[in-house]
Amino acid sequence: MPLPRRIVLVGPMGAGKSTIGRQLARELGYHFLDSDRMIEERCGADIPWIFDVEGEEGFRQRESAMIKELSEVGASVLATGGGAVMKDENHPFLKQDAVVVYLKASLDQQIERTRKDRNRPLLQNDDPEGVLRRLYELRDPIYTRLADVVMLTDRKSPRLVVRQILNRI
Ligand code: S3P
Repeated sequence: MPLPRRIVLVGPMGAGKSTIGRQLARELGYHFLDSDRMIEERCGADIPWIFDVEGEEGFRQRESAMIKELSEVGASVLATGGGAVMKDENHPFLKQDAVVVYLKASLDQQIERTRKDRNRPLLQNDDPEGVLRRLYELRDPIYTRLADVVMLTDRKSPRLVVRQILNRI
């Protein structure tokens, strides 16, 4: 089977989208695109600053514009932010020429991987675990619906996840 033109990784914070995406791109000789990092570069500020100054909606607008722009880049692996699926208008651009892979992580794994994180504004509050749980309940059906491949990541090394993705695309 020919390789897909793009591979798009979706899933919650702490699922390993950036780490796995970078390794997957290296294996395939594809460009690695990380939408959060590219939004930060474009804006000249980090994500906490964007949330602070422009609010979540300001960030989401930047995210939608970036997802649309990056849908044109072929031979690429795109790591999206956890909330990129929340705007329906993004869905056609996420799916365009792509195999969408849902990196699925248990709540425990998400909590473990985002502990003491300072760079994720949605988790800077008294109950980050509650936030992760609510987001998971809300978003899991959307990730699942969008995905061509659902890949469990719990207790797996990034290397193993990359190998399993390569076997499924
Ligand atoms: C968000 C996830 C973050 C980042 C922003 C919002 C979310 O990306 O886009 O903080 O809504 O889940 P990661 O999934 O890479 O942490």
